[in-house]
Amino acid sequence: MVTDKLPKAVIYKNGILSFLDQTQLPLKVVYEEQKTAEQIYDSIKRLKVRGAPAIGIAGAYGLIVSVKKYIHEPVDIFLTELKRIGEYLVSSRPTAVNLSWAVNRIINKAKSACYSTSEELWHILEQEAENIYNEDKEICKNIGRYGAELIENGSGILTHCNAGALAVSELGTALAPIYTALDMGKTFKVYADETRPLLQGARLTSYELQASGADVTLICDNMAAYAMSRGLINMVIVGCDRVAANGDTANKIGTMNVAILANYFKIPFYVACPSSTFDNMTLTGSDIVIEQRNPEEVTHFAGVQTAPDNVKVLNPAFDVTPNELITGFITEYGIIIPPYIINLENILHKGWKQNLMFK
Ligand code: MRU
Repeated sequence: MVTDKLPKAVIYKNGILSFLDQTQLPLKVVYEEQKTAEQIYDSIKRLKVRGAPAIGIAGAYGLIVSVKKYIHEPVDIFLTELKRIGEYLVSSRPTAVNLSWAVNRIINKAKSACYSTSEELWHILEQEAENIYNEDKEICKNIGRYGAELIENGSGILTHCNAGALAVSELGTALAPIYTALDMGKTFKVYADETRPLLQGARLTSYELQASGADVTLICDNMAAYAMSRGLINMVIVGCDRVAANGDTANKIGTMNVAILANYFKIPFYVACPSSTFDNMTLTGSDIVIEQRNPEEVTHFAGVQTAPDNVKVLNPAFDVTPNELITGFITEYGIIIPPYIINLENILHKGWKQNLMFK
């Protein structure tokens, strides 16, 4: 099984939370224990743990670990701290909906749970964080199952950033169909965009695809058009951080470039994501808050300065791909196809499990 060969981003065992420090990959594999809210906030902000579902999982476990010191306090103090620290952790990164979704799920569980002491409540919440992790594993498996059907023998697949095992509990979203297809014995090639400025494609995607045994080729971001024009790419699969009610999709900066290219070359462009990434409170892509990051990520490359002092820099971490460029959303319930405004509204009213809009 490919799953056995893949790295794990978040480990919670016997009450100890550890993140694989992804800033050191692929050169060093270092797990760092996470003990305080400040440390967990910093790990998310600095992308030691990153990827939308993984920061949700990290936020949920992080909240559990951070509030443990209040378990002998009266319940009202415990609840106040739970809410305060939850809001603090959510503020570490604004774009991925999964972080606030997971933290709010823990806080809402506290509101509905039956308990008599803070300690009892803490154990209920710890179980809820475990549920989030285990559900994510199942979700990724199902995304893999539906997405693998789209992969044809002999094809070339382009992906951008990292939406693999390192971005979730296990397996991935965009990479889950690839790993599942490998397990099914399909043969195909994967092309990984390096993904400037922080090189998630080069450092993380090519690392975990190599570990899985996939046939992976790394390209610079500006080589995607070349690869498509030469017929090397038959489909694109990317992950995402938030899908607005009309299907506009935020993902790593550069995703929109790839979607525009895919449209020009008539190559299907799929977004793989769990149902929790759909945010019906955000109406269109222009309502999605885009994280702006430190200019040094652009003026420096691997710690070496590559631009003149004081040059002005633009460094948005994400862009929004307009819904009309998206061929389909690969979710744990099936593949959602256009028209998205109608189909996503149907899901909102009738629920995910009815099948009308799925392929
Ligand atoms: O800044 P990052 O590395 O957290 O950005 C990650 C992405 O853009 C991923 O494609 C997205 O979160 C989906 S992860 C399954």
